[in-house]
Amino acid sequence: MAVRSQEQDDALGDVVVPEDELQDRVKAIGKEITADYEGRAPLLVGVLKGAFMFMSDLARAIDLPVEFDFMAVSSYGSATRTSGVVRIIKDLDIDLEGRDVIIVEDIVDSGLTLAYLRRNLEHRNPASLEVCALLLKDGLQKSDPDIRYVGFHLPADFVVGYGLDVGEKYRNLPSLVRYVGS
Ligand code: IMP
Repeated sequence: MAVRSQEQDDALGDVVVPEDELQDRVKAIGKEITADYEGRAPLLVGVLKGAFMFMSDLARAIDLPVEFDFMAVSSYGSATRTSGVVRIIKDLDIDLEGRDVIIVEDIVDSGLTLAYLRRNLEHRNPASLEVCALLLKDGLQKSDPDIRYVGFHLPADFVVGYGLDVGEKYRNLPSLVRYVGS
């Protein structure tokens, strides 16, 4: 089967956040974290797979001896909607006891995945637990998601690129693009 280039893909709509704006914002968040955590060594907990690209750029923008760990979760639901029922596919390797933990999320939509993760990680007794989300979809969260660092507020459209997928596709796009379907 022939594979079309992503530039010619009709399922992709307009660019929502271009690459240079993403990079500038990630650098600014990195500076903020560097200032807020001065003298400490935060543990970044990336939520796979969507946050891998953000986490990689963010970590390089933080001028502190950060450590990394990753969690993989799967939420049941359709291709573009989560149900709130979350299953841990890969758990953390590092003990969170006494650590300054920052959850690094790609996108918060209903907030259900994040609410589950926060509850789960709080039980592991970190010294502090904050959330850094690249994208927050406005108006969809049932309760205040309490996110310390937010990259961009977005309308409710489905977006792909910069780590975000639909059916595992489009994660490698350097910009954030609206997904209009096929
Ligand atoms: P929530 O539990 O509804 O907040 O959904 C969060 C998860 O759903 C994210 O971590 C993504 O994996 C996925 N998701 C939600 N909205 C989008 C989107 O617009 N594009 C790609 N994935 C999304």
